[in-house]
Amino acid sequence: MNALTPTKAAAAETPHGLLRFLTCGSVDDGKSTLIGRLLYDTKAILEDQMTALEKDSRRHGTTGEAVDLALLVDGLEAEREQGITIDVAYRFFATPRRSFIVADTPGHEQYTRNMATGASNSDLAVLLVDARKGLLTQTRRHAVIASLLGIRHVVLAVNKIDLVGFDEATFRAIVADFEAFAEPLGFRTIEAIPLSARFGDNVTEPSASMPWHDGPTLLGHLERVEVEADRTVQPFRMPVQLGNRPNLDFRGFSGTVASGRVAVGEEVVIASSGHTSRVARIVTFDGDRAEAAAGDAVTIVLADEVDAPRGEVLAAPKARPAHTTRFRARLVWMAAEPLKPGRGFLLKTGARTVPATVSQLAAALDVETYADRAADELPLNGIGLVEVETGAPVSLDPYADNRETGAFILIDRFANTTVAAGMVTETLGGGNVYRHGFDVDRASRAGLKHQRPVLLWFTGLPGSGKSTIANLVERRLAAIGRHTMLIDGDALRIGLNTDLGFDAASRAENIRRAGEVASLMLEAGLVVLCAFVSPFRADRERLRERIGADFVEVFVDTPVEICAERDPKGLYARAKAGGIKDFTGIGQDYEAPLAADLVLHAGEGSPEQLAGQVLTFVEPLIAGDRPTSEDSAAL
Ligand code: ADX
Repeated sequence: MNALTPTKAAAAETPHGLLRFLTCGSVDDGKSTLIGRLLYDTKAILEDQMTALEKDSRRHGTTGEAVDLALLVDGLEAEREQGITIDVAYRFFATPRRSFIVADTPGHEQYTRNMATGASNSDLAVLLVDARKGLLTQTRRHAVIASLLGIRHVVLAVNKIDLVGFDEATFRAIVADFEAFAEPLGFRTIEAIPLSARFGDNVTEPSASMPWHDGPTLLGHLERVEVEADRTVQPFRMPVQLGNRPNLDFRGFSGTVASGRVAVGEEVVIASSGHTSRVARIVTFDGDRAEAAAGDAVTIVLADEVDAPRGEVLAAPKARPAHTTRFRARLVWMAAEPLKPGRGFLLKTGARTVPATVSQLAAALDVETYADRAADELPLNGIGLVEVETGAPVSLDPYADNRETGAFILIDRFANTTVAAGMVTETLGGGNVYRHGFDVDRASRAGLKHQRPVLLWFTGLPGSGKSTIANLVERRLAAIGRHTMLIDGDALRIGLNTDLGFDAASRAENIRRAGEVASLMLEAGLVVLCAFVSPFRADRERLRERIGADFVEVFVDTPVEICAERDPKGLYARAKAGGIKDFTGIGQDYEAPLAADLVLHAGEGSPEQLAGQVLTFVEPLIAGDRPTSEDSAAL
């Protein structure tokens, strides 16, 4: 059952505005009862909910004849049966002073994920501790996550104080313990309150049983605590959810302003391309507006013809987010199977989803001591310091600067589940480097050449015929007036890539650089032919994701026996004699493409015939004289 729907209007009516907070703690610490108590005492419960609650209390309750307040908030039938809370639920209530949205997050060990979800929207955390048990690892973990997620205000709610006879010494010991632990976490306020959620002591009313407590009640504190929640003072950011084009005269970009504000007439920049334009209109459901601020869902119409497809970020030109493929981050790992560096995921930030790899695990945090230690893997609920590489550049800010554009999640590609919540600590590579929006772009360069740029990527064993076929294809394209460029492994390894060898990491880097070079040539409007062994599937898949729709994978499928027999450079013979360690086909495997765009079988024709097959396939692609917008987005 849900409490009242939160509305901005309701929040505006209370003099101290809206406070978003979350509750967290271990199982059985009494969170649900506490929230139930707050809702009950502030009359956020409606008459019919009350009747249902009384009925439910008799059926499922653990409190005998009395109303079980936990049932009010434990919305899911399943969790009632299990007696644990398993989802984040947002509830709204208000007092004459202030409005509240509380994220009720579960305390069960494996549900740290929900805690992270709830915390990212909150300004304050109520950490529940059972007075009989004191601080548990789980409590410490939640305090750390709250801190990492940018929460600066904490209430240490020492619950079930009735069960320790309202004992002051027990309370003081827990508080001292917490304050020592929380020292490095950077909280601005920590308010410790002894309470009994079940009987209501110090929740909304001061307790007669604890005359020694001279602090506020929980509600009293929540009503008065000052939080610096104003996201509108940060630089403007709006992730584009949708590029709206109902007709030729209207081109709007829809999304929710993540931070800052923007007004009609102001300049904004498209974070990836660097193109700038002025805001011509700000359209909302209720008509046009002069300005928009964090939290507003709007459609921004720009004065110029610029492209900003879904996943782009509109930003303030003088405070742009980084646009990069590498960054460091804090990661809360939420899958049962431990995280090992090198694994690939999908990364989602704002409206953008890109392939990503956790390339390094620099350290794992010991939540008992708050120390970073070297680690090979990150277990369930582990908090790590990692380096991430993405398949395509993303617009990001450090989380400390922006809680929206600094946050991301990692998704398991196969199970399609969220496996980690991340916070950017530092962007790498592209630090203070921003793409300039040049006026002559890929589309115009390609237009002049009357062709659509595509990348023909030939992969196969050494000696399979990649370079030979690519050469023939290029000759025939040139003969019909196409503008082309051919690059092969040997050419790049003699120049740009002299520093690389043939181990797996070097090959990955070789392919990455080849892809970057090819990408620049596509920008130049060329048809690019690349002939690289590129034996690893993951490297080629990264390329496909990097290049997008213009990537054409051509698998030159020549059996290793034939390649070894041809042995054009005598390398198979040397490898067999033990002279070359990582030789593809002898000492190292070749991972054949599973879904190449084109497969050429060496046995089925002469090199000229195979080249003919390639031409038949690509000529219609090249003939389109403008690239699609999706293609330029891939860059
Ligand atoms: S890739 O695997 O990184 O794509 P690339 O295509 O650049 O390889 O280079 C392959 C060329 O390097 C081959 O044509 C061959 O001439 C030469 N070569 C030298 N050592 C090796 C090796 N160990 N494995 C494969 N090719 C090698």
